Amino acid sequence: MKTDTVTQIHITKAAKSKIKDVDFNNLNFGQEFSDHMLVCDYKDGQWETPKIVPYQPITLEPSAKIFHYGQSVFEGMKAYKDANDNVLLFRPMDNCKRLNISSKRLAIPELPEVYFMDGLTELLKLEKDWIPTSEGSALYIRPFIFASGQGFHASPANAYKFIIACAPSGPYFSGKVKVLIEETYSRSANGGVGFAKAGGNYAGQFYPTQLAKDKGYHQVIWTDDNTHEYIEEAGAMNVFARINDTLLTVPVSDRILDGITRKSVIEIAETEGIDVEIRKISVKELIEASQNGSLKELFGAGTAAVISPIASFGYRDQDYDLPVIENSYASLLKKRITDIQTNKAEDPFGWRFNV
Ligand code: PLP
Ligand code: COI
Repeated sequence: MKTDTVTQIHITKAAKSKIKDVDFNNLNFGQEFSDHMLVCDYKDGQWETPKIVPYQPITLEPSAKIFHYGQSVFEGMKAYKDANDNVLLFRPMDNCKRLNISSKRLAIPELPEVYFMDGLTELLKLEKDWIPTSEGSALYIRPFIFASGQGFHASPANAYKFIIACAPSGPYFSGKVKVLIEETYSRSANGGVGFAKAGGNYAGQFYPTQLAKDKGYHQVIWTDDNTHEYIEEAGAMNVFARINDTLLTVPVSDRILDGITRKSVIEIAETEGIDVEIRKISVKELIEASQNGSLKELFGAGTAAVISPIASFGYRDQDYDLPVIENSYASLLKKRITDIQTNKAEDPFGWRFNV
């Protein structure tokens, strides 16, 4: 897939690159930032042409509505480089579309797709050298929009900023992932904003997740807010379970993010001949399957997390360990998806995007 650039993007280059200060062999996730960022302002009822400027702080009025009413949405993407130095993205239009789906729910004006795609493409051409190539690392891309317009009136702002910043990053998790099935707090509710990548969805997770971290878990698996009997998704990833040889994941809804990794995993698994069931999964079913040995795998899927096997899950003060198995679906699916992303394998789905 290739698009022609139509937007004339003005570029102001950084006086000096910071790249030599970064240890590309020891990258954390999202802690170091590349030299440039894309900025696009919404004013007077329209999005202005994006520009690229050195990565730098932004100045806002204390009354900017982002601070008071949390009007903000974001995306998470990764850029990879193949053996021939080609810069690659994975299903970028899906991120662009989802950003606008999120924006609509938060009463943020939708961004022209061409600004997103052309802006991203130009930025990546400039930041090419910032794409790490060691296994498990990538240039993590964070497109986001927030209300920069001011005023204490509780209504949508009249000005917004769209920014894309990039962070050369290593894996999101280090070591074995332990999750806690949550049944007190809820991440989302019917009719709410759970399906949107709204900043506030994450803020609302921090306190319950911290309580779980205090008990030794990394993330929470959310359950439905009504009964807390059915699993939904984790803090930063969709969840898959393998019971016997069937791969299960829950349907997306207005409470759950429609993950791009999730839908790719489903398609790859089906192509591999794996039985996939998209249906509700009760906590009871998971526990029974764990006890009778049919629960073979549990893993999370997301851009940052890629495919992260879950080593154990906790529920009501008891931990249930997942077995260590050969021929795991998680390893197979991770290899298939990362090989497509990094151009180590054919892409029969047309997901790879050459920058
Ligand atoms: N669910 C949540 C809450 C997330 O934050 C993410 C990460 O983006 C995902 C699922 C996975 O989505 P994707 O695969 O599009 O990154
Ligand atoms: C991503 O996977 O890109 C996400 O947005 C998760 C994030 C909360 C780190």
